[in-house]
Amino acid sequence: MNIKIFFLTGIILFSTTSYADHDKGHVDVVVDTLTPRAAAGQVKFNENCAACHGFNGQGTKIGPPLIHDIYNPGHHDNGSFTRAVLKGVQQHHWQYGNMPPQPQVGFSEMANIMAFVREVQEQNGIYRKEHKM
Ligand code: HEC
Repeated sequence: MNIKIFFLTGIILFSTTSYADHDKGHVDVVVDTLTPRAAAGQVKFNENCAACHGFNGQGTKIGPPLIHDIYNPGHHDNGSFTRAVLKGVQQHHWQYGNMPPQPQVGFSEMANIMAFVREVQEQNGIYRKEHKM
């Protein structure tokens, strides 16, 4: 086989695979009634996180959905969310690249964002599961 076509096919296959992974990760998020705290968090989430994590955490082409079983509180506790926002995240679960720190998000905003994420996770059937390695 012509070597150029061989590499070209490889690149095409590779990019199709990463999109397929995204589509699997993408979720339809239902948002029901929220507590006032979570409703305040929803506004901050959609201002600060949705560009990558999607409207209400459903995921985009550049960031994973957070309303996803991987992010249930048994696997990613609230501390891991705070660390992500303070320090950023090295790519490890997906192929979107690293998450940059989000220093514009303050402590109380983060607490509201957390309330939003957990309430919406439960509304979408995502509950704590102990993490087994
Ligand atoms: C510029 C894009 C971008 C923005 C903005 C962003 N993130 Fe992320 N985030 C990512 C990517 C990409 C990952 C996936 C890293 C991986 O696991 O491969 C990620 C991962 C995470 C994780 C998982 C951390 C872990 O330990 O695995 C959490 C929690 C998170 N983001 C929360 C947030 C919150 C909350 C906000 C808003 C305050 C936010 N992110 C804004 C891109 C972004």
